Amino acid sequence: MNDLATFELGQAIFNSQWLAAGAPRAERRDGLGPVFNAASCDSCHNNGARATAPSDDGRLPIGFVMQLGMANGGAIPLGDVLNPAAIEGYSAEGHIVLSYRVRDVRYPDGSQVEVREPHYQLHGPRVSALPARTLLKPRMASPLFGTGLLDAVPASAFGSDQASPGRFGWQAGTRSVRDQTAKAFSREMGLHSTEYPLDDCGDDATCAAAPEGGEPEVSEDFLHAVTLFQSLLAVPKAEPLDAESEAQGASLFARTGCANCHAPSLPVEGIDGLSRIAAYTDLRRHDLGDGLADRRMDGTVVDSLWRTAPLWGIAHLPRGGHFGLLHDGRARSVEEAILWHAGEADAARATFMALPKAQRKRLLDWILRR
Ligand code: HEC
Ligand code: HEC
Repeated sequence: MNDLATFELGQAIFNSQWLAAGAPRAERRDGLGPVFNAASCDSCHNNGARATAPSDDGRLPIGFVMQLGMANGGAIPLGDVLNPAAIEGYSAEGHIVLSYRVRDVRYPDGSQVEVREPHYQLHGPRVSALPARTLLKPRMASPLFGTGLLDAVPASAFGSDQASPGRFGWQAGTRSVRDQTAKAFSREMGLHSTEYPLDDCGDDATCAAAPEGGEPEVSEDFLHAVTLFQSLLAVPKAEPLDAESEAQGASLFARTGCANCHAPSLPVEGIDGLSRIAAYTDLRRHDLGDGLADRRMDGTVVDSLWRTAPLWGIAHLPRGGHFGLLHDGRARSVEEAILWHAGEADAARATFMALPKAQRKRLLDWILRR
């Protein structure tokens, strides 16, 4: 199969709603669940975009996933993610109730901005049996464009000293687009492949014994095609301002310290006609303080490192409605996202807050055109 045909197959699989094992006319797209989050990649990453924002009254988008962890290691009874949906005849693992606590952040010049802090409760019979040390890791479906370019950044450009397991995901926990794809099929959709041969059943034997939609459910040609499709998703173009505003914005971005992490330029290798990209990330992980850190079910904060989120593509976020920025979608604007920066980014946030209002606006306008 040539690359174009593979790309088109990948796009078709990305958009396909998978069916329960044995469903008629499934065309090798069966085996969903038995427990799952969504039936297609596109339900969470619509046309490659990030999940839509959670609403102020706590309604969660389908692209929001509650990953689970266990402090000090140990098996997680529900598997790696909470699965709030199930095929007929099986029970969902539970559901999430989100509420926001809202407060005002005051600038040195007296102006105020409202931010919202999320609180999660899990409900359902199996959830109530989870140990209190279970970690809750709320995650928004990330934007997918540009993954092929980020893959082409040589490791030497961001240093191999940081011992991060990979470069994809909010915590750079995944080494390749292929790995993330296979993981998503298994964890978020209940579809196993040769890379991840098990569904995300945890210790539930009934779930594990559910009929299979093939062996593996996601065939190698499908996995390869979806991986290629995503690697080629183009980054939406920046929308530059006039030359003077561009220069002033870039200078503020550097002076404020944003550019120390959100690197305006990174080298890439092996891509025809391209030697550098403007992804605005260093692909490294940073501690941004307790406010953004994951918590255990009993409320204890756990140390959390986050990959500097690439800022490219921000110009194309839907206007009018809310943005859902940061790993859990809490920030409704670029400004709110900045105000959550603490820990290693504390100085940058403080410098931003101390800027005269007109300069803050200049910087925000500039970021909104990346
Ligand atoms: C239920 C929602 C959901 C579904 C379905 C889903 N994803 Fe995701 N995806 C996520 C979330 C949440 C993340 C962030 C995970 C993290 O950071 O740990 C993510 C992250 C990714 C990333 C990493 C991007 C980056 O640059 O860091 C890739 C690639 C990806 N998904 C591909 C896929 C593919 C391919 C499918 C279909 C096989 C898929 N996803 C299905 C929610 C979903
Ligand atoms: C120490 C490194 C560091 C510095 C300095 C820093 N950031 Fe960040 N930034 C991050 C990390 C890490 C994240 C992801 C945090 C998360 O999702 O919880 C992030 C996320 C963001 C986001 C949200 C992106 C998204 O896709 O959701 C925006 C916007 C942002 N930063 C802007 C800025 C601006 C503007 C500055 C300067 C005032 C700045 N950052 C300084 C590390 C940094």
